[in-house]
Amino acid sequence: MRINRKLLSVILLVGWGLYAPVSLAAGEEFEGLPEGPGREAAYFNCTACHSIQQVTQQGMDREDWNEVLDRMVKSNGMHPMLPWARTMVLNYLVTHYGTDDQDWLGLPPGEGREEVFYTCQACHSLKTVQQQGLSKDSWKETLVWMVEEQGMSEPEPGELKLLLNYLSIYYGIN
Ligand code: HEC
Ligand code: HEC
Repeated sequence: MRINRKLLSVILLVGWGLYAPVSLAAGEEFEGLPEGPGREAAYFNCTACHSIQQVTQQGMDREDWNEVLDRMVKSNGMHPMLPWARTMVLNYLVTHYGTDDQDWLGLPPGEGREEVFYTCQACHSLKTVQQQGLSKDSWKETLVWMVEEQGMSEPEPGELKLLLNYLSIYYGIN
């Protein structure tokens, strides 16, 4: 059969014209997933088998999201992600579809939470902090030690007070 090239190119053009704007719009929006590192990876990995709503209607903590990712692979036939991609997707899910606490990696709400969150994660995991139960004086010594020996920049007096209060209330000695 002889192909009519002109007709073919018209069909291709019309086809592209119909298809392109739709796919671009959908691609840009990722069906409304909020922007952030891991968005594309989450979108493309998680919509292979079901709608993204299956994911976005959830609010789970890190542990539960972690289990979901395992379950998708073990029981539902999802292709395992590379470790770095998995971490990125997990962080994305926890950040945008987590529970409130989990946005702060388990730090309970209270005055000084933000300061602890941003100051103490610069060099080590928050777990280093959360596994402690210290008196206010010992927390003070720990912070002095962080500054003098470990290179933490010295907090402003107001900030220091917030850090110490928060740490001794939530990670104090009962
Ligand atoms: C290879 C297929 C496949 C892929 C890829 C996949 N899922 Fe699933 N997922 C399933 C199946 C099958 C179900 C169960 C379907 C149902 O209950 O309607 C499911 C259900 C779910 C559920 C709800 C029920 C539950 O088990 O908790 C969540 C949440 C979920 N998936 C999250 C994800 C996330 C996040 C990703 C991307 C990292 C993902 N899925 C990728 C197959 C897949
Ligand atoms: C500039 C880097 C840095 C910052 C910022 C920092 N730390 Fe540390 N921290 C370290 C290092 C390094 C160690 C490990 C030191 C060691 O074990 O020798 C450590 C260890 C600790 C430990 C463990 C002590 C122990 O006995 O095992 C606690 C508790 C701690 N940090 C609390 C904090 C708190 C609270 C903050 C925020 C207010 C903070 N750190 C910020 C560097 C830092």
